[in-house]
Parts: sequence; C-alpha cells; structure tokens
Amino acid sequence: MSAAVKKDAHPFNKQNLEALLNSRFFYAPAFEIYGGVAGLYDYGPPGSSLQANIINEWRKHYIIEEGMLEVDTTILTPAPVFETSGHVARFADWMVKDKVNGEVLRADHLVEGVLEARLKGDKEAHGILADAAAAPEGEKKKKKKNVKSTAVKLEDSLVQEYESVLAQIDNYTGPQLGELIRKYNIVSPDTGNEVDEPVQFNLMFDSSIGPTGKQKGYLRPETAQGHFLNFSRLLQFNNGRLPFASAQIGRSFRNEISPRAGLLRVREFTMAEIEHYVDPLDKKHARFDEIQDIKLMLLPKDVQSAGRTDLLEISVGDAVSKGIIDNETLGYFLGRTYLFLVKIGINPHRLRFRQHMANEMAHYAADCWDAEIETSYGWIECVGCADRSAYDLTVHSKRTGQALVAQVTLPEPIVEEKVVFELNKKNFGKTFAKETEQVKNAITALDQDGLLKLQGDLKNGSAIINAEGKDYTLTPELLTIEWKTFKSHTREFTPNVIEPSFGIGRILYSVLEHSFWAREEDVARGVLSLPPNVAPTKCLIVPLSSNESFVPLVRDVSAKLRKAGVFSRVDDSNASIGKRYSRNDELGTPFGVTLDFASVQNGTMTLRERDTTDQRIGKIDDVIAVVQDLVQGTIDWPQACERLPAYDGVQAVAE
Ligand code: ATP
Ligand code: GLY
Repeated sequence: MSAAVKKDAHPFNKQNLEALLNSRFFYAPAFEIYGGVAGLYDYGPPGSSLQANIINEWRKHYIIEEGMLEVDTTILTPAPVFETSGHVARFADWMVKDKVNGEVLRADHLVEGVLEARLKGDKEAHGILADAAAAPEGEKKKKKKNVKSTAVKLEDSLVQEYESVLAQIDNYTGPQLGELIRKYNIVSPDTGNEVDEPVQFNLMFDSSIGPTGKQKGYLRPETAQGHFLNFSRLLQFNNGRLPFASAQIGRSFRNEISPRAGLLRVREFTMAEIEHYVDPLDKKHARFDEIQDIKLMLLPKDVQSAGRTDLLEISVGDAVSKGIIDNETLGYFLGRTYLFLVKIGINPHRLRFRQHMANEMAHYAADCWDAEIETSYGWIECVGCADRSAYDLTVHSKRTGQALVAQVTLPEPIVEEKVVFELNKKNFGKTFAKETEQVKNAITALDQDGLLKLQGDLKNGSAIINAEGKDYTLTPELLTIEWKTFKSHTREFTPNVIEPSFGIGRILYSVLEHSFWAREEDVARGVLSLPPNVAPTKCLIVPLSSNESFVPLVRDVSAKLRKAGVFSRVDDSNASIGKRYSRNDELGTPFGVTLDFASVQNGTMTLRERDTTDQRIGKIDDVIAVVQDLVQGTIDWPQACERLPAYDGVQAVAE
C-alpha cells in the first residue's frame, strides 16, 4: 500500500474550493441569469445528492435508530400561531442603516466584522514590525514602510477590550450594540459612512392566505410549531406515553438582513428538527449510558461572560453530573449530535459546543447549546440544541383552550385534603336569579385560603363576596364549605421539550470545507474526501477503451453495482484515465473500478481508492462485493486490501 496520505501538504485554499464547487455545480446563486438574489441558492446534481445523503444519514441516525415519530407539516402558517409562539413580537434581529447610501447591515455582524478586522490588522502590524526589528539595519526603514493600511497597531488595553466584546457578541441588545458602534467609531466597512442607531427587523416573510387577503399568514421560520400543534395526536399515537420525540425535515424561511456568507446564511433553507417531549420532573434518558463517555469540547456561558473563549474538554457524563450541562436528555442529544456530525465528515477537532448566554437565548428557551463548526468563516452555529421547557405547549394551550398535557400513572396514589364548596342550587338560583353565574364564578375563583375565610364567615352567620365590582351576601342556606379527601392515581403536566435543530445547508458546507484538500504533488488537483455514506456517487466505472467489446461488460458491471445498492456512474469520455480519476476526486467519489482488456479476457477489474489512489485487483464479482461492504461501512480500506491483492499494472493486457 502507498504511504499515508498527506492531506495538509497545502494550506486550505477557499478560492480553489469555491471554484471547484461552482464549476462542478454543487450549488450556485439562484436566478443567476436575472442577476441573482442574495441568500438564495440552487443545488446542482452533486450538491443535491450530497444533501439527500446527509438527510438520509440523519433519518437513519435519529428517526430510525431512536424510533422517532416523523411529521411533515405545512410551511404556510396562519398568523395567530406565530402571534402566540412569540415570533411576531420577538423573532427579530437588529439592523443599522448607512447614513449616506441607506444600505442595511446586521448590527452585531457589523461590530463583529469591524473589531475582528482591527484585531487582524493589529496582528499584521505586529508581524511586520517584528520582521523589521529582525532585519539588517539598512532594511529596517523599508520594512517598516510595508505596514499596510489594514495593519494598524492597537493599544494593548484596546486589544483586550475588543476580545472581550467579541467573546460576548451574541449577548448584546440593540441599544448596547448602538453604544459599541459609537464608542469604537464603527462605520460601514463598504463605504466608510456612519450608521444610524440599531432598529429591530422581524425576520419572518409574511403573506396572506386565500383570495380576500383577510387571513394573514407567514412562511415558517422554523419547523417546530408544526410539531407542537400536533402534540395531542402524537401523544395518542405513542399510546399516551412519554418520553417520545417527533422529527421533521423541511424548508424554513428567514428574511435575513444582509446575507453574505454563501450557504451559511440564506433566506430559504432545509432544517431537520427534533422535539423530544419529557416529564419536567424526570429529564433522565434511558440510553444515556451509550454516550456518556464521549468527550466534547465545551464553551460554557460563564467563560464567555468573562470575555474568554477557552474550551473545556469533558465527557458528557461528567458535564451532566457537574451541572455544566443541565440534564441527561440535553447531554444525550449533544453526544448524539457529535456522533452524527463526525460520521458524515466533520473534523471532531473543529467541533465545539457553545452554551448561550442569557440575552442571546431565543425567547422560548431555558437553556441552549449550539454545535459550532470551525470553517474559514470562523466558528459557525450548525445545530441549536435548546431546552424550550413547557413554553410552546403552554402558550398554544392558553390561546386555543385545548389541553396540551400528558399524564403519568403514579406508583402510589396521592392523597390530598382540600376545602371545597357545594352550592344549594335551588336556593342559590332563587336568591341571585340572573346574577347566579357571576356569583358562582367569584366563589370558584377563590383559592384555598379564600374558601377557608368564607367558611369562617359563614359559621358566624353570613359572608360577603365581591363579583364584578358588586358585593353579594352569602348565608349557610346557599352553600356549604368543608374539607374533603381526594385520591389521585395520575399526575398531569405540560411536557418540557428538548429541541435539537439542524441547519442542513450549514452542515453541508462545513462538510465540504473539512473534506477539501489538494494533492501534495499538484496544488491544482483538489480532492473532496467525502465519507462514502454521503458522497454523491459511490463508485466510478471507467472503461479504458471505447472499443465495442467493452459495452456489454460496462452494462453488466453497472447492473451488478445497482443490484448491490451502490450508486455508480460511468465515465466513458475520451479524457485520459488520470483526468477521469481527478475529475471524480473533485466530486468526492470514493471508489473507481477500471475495466481493461484483462477484464474482457479474464473477468477481472481493478479497484481504486480516492484518497490513497491505491489500486487493487480481483474477479469482478469479488470487487463488487468489496465495494458494497466499503460503501455500507462494514469494512474500511485496509480490510478491503486484505481481500484484494495489490494491482501492479502487469495484469493488464495491452490494447
Ligand atoms: P444565527 O444566530 O446564526 O442567525 P440562529 O441562532 O438564529 O442562527 P437557530 O434559530 O438556532 O439559528 O436555527 C437553528 C439552525 O438553523 C441553526 O443552527 C442553523 O444551522 C440553521 N439556520 C438558521 N438560520 C439560518 C440561515 N439564515 N441560513 C442557513 N441556516 C440557518
Ligand atoms: N427551531 C429552532 C429555531 O429555529 O431556532
């Protein structure tokens, strides 16, 4: 086998990756020939397959492996739903306007971008000045002159201040961002113009449903509400038992203020969301032991509030027992998220879990950890894992009058003594006539202490109750109040919800960045080392010649791979074999089989592995069986090499 693959021979080159993704049509700006619209992208053939494969792995990892209940709810949503959920009032970001040209920028991104650029400039200036100091006397001045306009040295105290602001950038309110903009003289980096004070901008796209225009609606900004509104049906489907989870994969829409980061910030995107319903008194997880030893890199909120970003490497089990992660269920999902992301090609050393600080938390969340992936754009939130407590089910239940609750049978019944009242209906109705209902409601509204006081007053002859601003006299002939014993066998409660929410586009882009490298011997030969489970095409079939005699063989091998469940493509172009391989390295195709004249004569074919470029040889059926196992992930390449001998080129019969 060849020497270990050197994937870091060349530094990561974003331009090269972008050129590859564009030229091979992984994705491209939507409506491009009309000039495009910021934040809207179309996926081409390899991008669509990659996305479908990531989603497929996600379905296997969560829905199938964990027996989740899948739903597919509508995108178009009537306004009362988002009024109730709080999105109409609060699903907003802060924006600022350029005072001269009116261009709009997201306030936190502006502060973040400018301060980061200044820190980078400071580092550059330090580098250049250090260079100059080390240079021979005569060159010192010349070197110092090289300090570029971006390379500006900052006071040490300012560097610390900037770093502290950046560590907490997600935690500022709009007015606080305004103060930072003024304090640090932040202007638009595009124009150099000053900007106005931050104002709030709601991110939901609105619409109207039906021809009258009277029923207002929104495109959903998350899939979650569709799960919550179906909670009672889902609970019934699950035989009334908790915990359980619903899962949904679908599109969401956000009118992002100024999307500029490719697939990372778009206005229409695919989400995969899980809503896991638990008893608030029991957030343990039955399968916690399966993930408790996984080590995660955590960035807790108190570290960030102190202006730092150092990571804590700790097992999920320890993080939960020390109270860093609030409960087992939240910890379980962080561990499972880690496994999923690594399985589809995320580098575990560039994956961290960051806890939200108090102000940045969404309006519905009680605790939240984001899985953040490091890319050339910095650390990017790709999965939000929030404890939404009982927030959503409670507000929807209040607004609709429908009970969104679950019950558990108690091991021991609860026995409770309570003071209750009973009306003497005949006397009560006669006495209060038309006002009967309002007097009754006033008594019903009393708590235990209120009823006890009423009981005392009645014992002394009469009591006064106020109903809708008017006093009424009650006497023992109208009602009785006494202690009673209640025995209950069930406990009713509003479930809490733990929600892992995945942005598929952000994950897909991060996988592409983490998979991209260039061959040591040729920086222009980009390779995408996508794991076989998500690679768009699993196996390339390369006939060495366009000779007629290859046609039936190619058809036969294609059919056999199809039957084995391996998605393959034939490249029978006239390009050289090397070119054909490197084109498919760019597409991330992990395996290639080559048919040559020996195949026709001896029934053999060679198998090439993308990263090592190793080649093995074997009987066609044996090679197909190995490819099938490789693609299913039941064996790795070294194991494949035990089953197929190395190919040294001599077995090929010359054309
Ligand atoms: P950000 O702070 O970056 O705007 P967010 O905190 O609003 O993101 P969530 O509301 O937690 O994000 O959304 C859940 C997931 O949906 C995110 O982890 C991300 O993967 C994805 N997501 C959110 N907004 C976008 C977007 N505009 N483009 C692509 N993916 C997005
Ligand atoms: N449903 C999670 C979010 O969109 O924030």
